[in-house]
Amino acid sequence: MHKLSKFYFCCFLGIVISCNRLSDGEKTYINACANCHMENGQGVANLVPAIVSAKFVNGRNQLICLMIEGSKDSTSQFGMPSYQKLSNAQIANVLNYINSKKKFNGAFFNENEIEGVRQSCPN
Ligand code: HEC
Repeated sequence: MHKLSKFYFCCFLGIVISCNRLSDGEKTYINACANCHMENGQGVANLVPAIVSAKFVNGRNQLICLMIEGSKDSTSQFGMPSYQKLSNAQIANVLNYINSKKKFNGAFFNENEIEGVRQSCPN
């Protein structure tokens, strides 16, 4: 291969690879959430609600507490597991990732907000 085209080829490859790198939130989503909510967030009919058209959560704090405490909905067979062990940053990132697919409440989540709400969840 010509020297210069080798150089361009490597640049191109570098761009492709860096574009494919998953964000932290997307990684958490794929590792921890996608097996129930599916990769595209559509959920599973009658078992796991879609997170792209959320019906259950109606506020930021409720959403954060759902992550931290999990829940057991009487209408679904499975509950949502607790993600108490995730760091504030991980929770913020995964919620921002979901937010990028579907607006819960527009504004960005950050670690401080997660920490504050974590202390005040009902259980
Ligand atoms: C074991 C399956 C399971 C896993 C894993 C899971 N969830 Fe859930 N999720 C549920 C179920 C079931 C509900 C409904 C709970 C309820 O209504 O009480 C739910 C509800 C939700 C809702 C509210 C949806 C609505 O209708 O408003 C959100 C948002 C959500 N999950 C996000 C996540 C995120 C983010 C993760 C990963 C960190 C995750 N879930 C992992 C099963 C799961």
